[in-house]
Amino acid sequence: MKKLSILAALAALALPGCEPKKEPGKLSVGFSQVGAESAWRTAETKSIRDAAAKKGVDLKFSDAQGKQANQIMAIRSFVSQGVSAIVLAPVVETGWEPVLREAKAAKIPVILVDRGIKVSDDSLYATLIASDFVEEGQMAAAWLAAKMGGQGSVVELEGTTGAAPAIDRKKGFHEELKKHPGMKVLKSQSADFTRAKGKEVMEAFLKADRDKVQAVYAHNDDMALGAIQAIEEAGLKPGKDVIVISIDAVKGAFEAMVKGTLNATVECNPLLGPAVFETLDQVLAGKPVPKFVKSKDRLFEQATAAQDIATREY
Ligand code: AHR
Repeated sequence: MKKLSILAALAALALPGCEPKKEPGKLSVGFSQVGAESAWRTAETKSIRDAAAKKGVDLKFSDAQGKQANQIMAIRSFVSQGVSAIVLAPVVETGWEPVLREAKAAKIPVILVDRGIKVSDDSLYATLIASDFVEEGQMAAAWLAAKMGGQGSVVELEGTTGAAPAIDRKKGFHEELKKHPGMKVLKSQSADFTRAKGKEVMEAFLKADRDKVQAVYAHNDDMALGAIQAIEEAGLKPGKDVIVISIDAVKGAFEAMVKGTLNATVECNPLLGPAVFETLDQVLAGKPVPKFVKSKDRLFEQATAAQDIATREY
């Protein structure tokens, strides 16, 4: 019975209309994206789509809606379609080995974008093209400690639990803050990188500790923008009564800095499309590529936000 159904499945795969659809002459690449949780992510998706179109690549796009299980399914589908390469922006850091082994067995190179993973075998991916999230957290903490004269109480809005930017931005921030014994993190909680959750968690923080909260560190701008709304609704002035710093440097953050409600943002470049396809050319040509292609990021403050905003591409 079991043998029969396996034979039936194999026969179905051999039927003419069941072959994977490939555009002749075009390089086909599968892209498994986290979702659309933030303005940053939307900018990254556009950058990768635009770069693929410019190169004439047939890009098979899959939105995982924040679920690793959907990404694993998408990778399996890309493998069965016989794509030339896979671009993966992983939701979380762990749990990738089995599916990446399947891609490796099919000789399909995997390029990681914007978030890293933890694997015991580095050959499971060709390269990671991303920012250094630990450094971003360190930059935010150093700026905040200087702004507060080394004294004060901060609440932290963390990104998606288990995601590399949430883990590393926390690590960098706490490491750097240890150098300033007068600085204290009152509370930390995940707000999943979204504006709605940023507002919700900030409301709870203010309800519990309104008189103690002097600053907010958000792992991305969207959560900071939600927190700003919560601070305003609580009758306080964000940017003055409560200092707000976040990461990404999206347009909305510059608008908030111009208004004076956000104090600073650390850039995290989402415009990774050109680097992805340049690196992919090297990988497919069998040339060596570095294991980590690092983006250059910097911190922006209110003082120059009005001029900076005109130069921002996302
Ligand atoms: O992985 C990058 C992070 O993911 C961005 O900082 C955040 O906005 C996004 O959702």
